[in-house]
Amino acid sequence: MGGGRRVSDSEHAQRLFEIVGSSWMTQLVRTAAELRLAEHLVDGPKTTAELAALTSTQERPLGQLLRGLCAIGVCEERDDGAFDITPMGALLSEDAPYSIRSWALHWGGALWGPWGRLPETVRTGESGRFLESGTRGFEHLAGDPEAALRFNQAMVELTRVSAASIVEAYDFSGCARVMDVGGGYGELIATILLAHPNVDGVLFDMPHAIDHATAHLSDKGVLSRCELVAGSFFESLPSGADVYVLKSILHDWNDERCGAILATCRAAMTPAARLLVVERVMPDRMVASGQHATIARSDLNMLVANAAQERTEAGWREILNDAGFEITGIMAAGFGYSVIEASLTTDGASP
Ligand SMILES: C[S@@+](CC[C@H](N)C(=O)[O-])C[C@H]1O[C@@H](n2cnc3c(N)ncnc32)[C@H](O)[C@@H]1O
Repeated sequence: MGGGRRVSDSEHAQRLFEIVGSSWMTQLVRTAAELRLAEHLVDGPKTTAELAALTSTQERPLGQLLRGLCAIGVCEERDDGAFDITPMGALLSEDAPYSIRSWALHWGGALWGPWGRLPETVRTGESGRFLESGTRGFEHLAGDPEAALRFNQAMVELTRVSAASIVEAYDFSGCARVMDVGGGYGELIATILLAHPNVDGVLFDMPHAIDHATAHLSDKGVLSRCELVAGSFFESLPSGADVYVLKSILHDWNDERCGAILATCRAAMTPAARLLVVERVMPDRMVASGQHATIARSDLNMLVANAAQERTEAGWREILNDAGFEITGIMAAGFGYSVIEASLTTDGASP
């Protein structure tokens, strides 16, 4: 045994208090995003009274919120008592190039109820979302345009921080046509097209995403090079792409549903086409580290949202092999993502 100082039970208890209470930050940041504090502070510091008037809130609790935001580095209190936004806090502004406003609203809002059902989810295997609302998968978005908008924009924000690294990790230069399957508003396909002027794109998703993706692709300047197709990846996909990308898709589904999505991909693909699965790869064994905590959070988020999961390399290999694919390469990208390249198995037999 090492000769390090023994951590006392009291110190363990203090650490556990911190862990138990850490969800307070989610609601703090969510509330800052809802009140648009970053937008109100973009032109310079303001007093609590000024901010209370601008946000239609009560001065005393708003002051508490602002001081809490100072404690986690989102705001700063100046000597004159006015509050400023930090460079990190400024990313809660909708207009910030790396805004995570929708993500903050999504985590603190739509996901909050399902996370509260975690004990029941672990007991029953049902997703927290199903236990909360009786809906599964993405069906809740079809009838709720506001929730769909928020979710799709949240996915743009999440994908934006890794898209450039995905394009660096995989060489798309030899492709003529790339399809982003379940590509949301098209953040990833737009990044691929901007990096490769000779490549054309197809964005495939459900109507709730495709109906609003035009504006996003137009803002990115790639609309003329990207075909938009609405449909279900459980039914059929257009053929004709050299590469079919599934980013953050398979982790939303159990093995059986993944098999169905992969079968649809397989049916659309020519023997020379490639499948790219862009996902996190779970370590075989978890230890206490920031990196493992990030992937565990995503894994459990898939559990509460969809009764689904992240997978280890062996897990990815298994579902791909079972669906008639073989992995031909795994490339590390940014923000903990990997690009798993797979091709159709050479015997040509359907599994
Ligand atoms: C977690 S999001 C990933 C979005 C995007 N690939 C990204 O990484 O930013 C899952 C996507 O799958 C889409 N999706 C869910 N069910 C689908 C279906 N049956 N057919 C097509 N797309 C579907 C959702 O609309 C959503 O855009």
